[in-house]
Amino acid sequence: MTSNVQAYRASLLHFCNDPAFDEHATLWHTDGLLVIADGKVVAADDYDKLLSTLPAGTTVHDWRGKIITPGFIDTHVHYPQTDIIGSPASGLLPWLNTYTFPTEGRFDDEAHATEVADFFLAELLRNGTTTAAVYCTVHPQSVNAFFGRSHALNLRMIAGKVMMDRNAPEFLLDTPESSARDSETLINRWHNKGRQHYAITPRFAPTSSDAQLKLAGELASQYPDTYIQTHVAENTDEVKWVKELFPDSRSYLDVYDRCGLMRKRALYAHCIWLDDGDRARMAATHSVATVCPTSNLFLGSGLFDFAGADKLHMPVSLATDVGGGTSFSMLQTMNELYKVGRMSGIHLAAQRMFYMATLGGARALQLEGTIGSFATGCEADFIVLDPQSTPLLSRRSATTNSLEEQLFALAMLGDDRTITATYSAGICVHQRSAWI
Ligand code: GUN
Ligand code: ZN
Repeated sequence: MTSNVQAYRASLLHFCNDPAFDEHATLWHTDGLLVIADGKVVAADDYDKLLSTLPAGTTVHDWRGKIITPGFIDTHVHYPQTDIIGSPASGLLPWLNTYTFPTEGRFDDEAHATEVADFFLAELLRNGTTTAAVYCTVHPQSVNAFFGRSHALNLRMIAGKVMMDRNAPEFLLDTPESSARDSETLINRWHNKGRQHYAITPRFAPTSSDAQLKLAGELASQYPDTYIQTHVAENTDEVKWVKELFPDSRSYLDVYDRCGLMRKRALYAHCIWLDDGDRARMAATHSVATVCPTSNLFLGSGLFDFAGADKLHMPVSLATDVGGGTSFSMLQTMNELYKVGRMSGIHLAAQRMFYMATLGGARALQLEGTIGSFATGCEADFIVLDPQSTPLLSRRSATTNSLEEQLFALAMLGDDRTITATYSAGICVHQRSAWI
């Protein structure tokens, strides 16, 4: 061990697999010690086992009574929509036209984009989210603003310029050629710079011509370790519209498939109105369905079909989708995820939901071994959860009888107040200052 070792004593929770399919997947240490050095995990085990291995003089930070987990991973969120979170509309398409497009129009101003990016990143960290897959706007300067701030904070983030060349206000439109050129310039500037990754980001089929989607697909094959992110099959009016715009495609998902946009690191938001053929195609191409429960309920889009996803082994991950989503908190997102599951007869265990928010997210992003767990060598992105963070959660936590019940209470009753501290690459980037 090197001399700059730091150690954190608390209960430790992380996963080595999906607990829905592996009964040994949950790794729990009631009195645990997380040991880090140079921003990476050295060890995570029982306090008693590790104490004697620490170099003399190592500071042991005492978080007893708290639970340390890997930082949460939000696999779909829009930073330019921070200011319109919780805006009323009668469904997706009116919401886009009334709130989303006007607010995104302001991001041609890099100073405005930087101010929003700063607030957005602080809000992620306050909620314990250390990695996110983020939409910017059509403006390249919105991407430079975002990555500039994220890189300065040394956060591991994924982001990209929205590509949209039709069916939106003039001030938000690019062209197939300009969008491909701008995206490539941004890839060269930001992809794999420090902890930043680029996502090729055609907004959704209705706002992209076939020519634009094809150029996006070409970029995706030219830069195979970039991400792809888009929306699919969120809302029935949208699905109908896509059928009219692309009459030759077998399904909405097939529009993207034909353009070479399905592969590892492709993130498809919502996936509510897919059929089994689509789900099988998602699985075969290792594309990921990013499930956005607060958004789907808020916009009345529909209920994600977990049983259908599991039956065909469709990869899934968890996301807030702010500003269609109504909370930055992945705990609140678990709360609504659970209820969506209940509406189709599924009981989602809390351990599965915590897995989805940590190692599951890392796997969806092909970042297992880098983030999402306390395996040796992983980056030390971690959070300190407080089961006593509110009077009600404290009272409920006192009567839980198992780890599952405690985690379930955190998912149902926890929020930003539950995040006592957030660490990124071993550095404290948020500490909750007051009890409210
Ligand atoms: N479909 C296309 N754009 C968007 C967006 O910004 N939010 C959501 N929820 N769905 C979309
Ligand atoms: Zn979205």
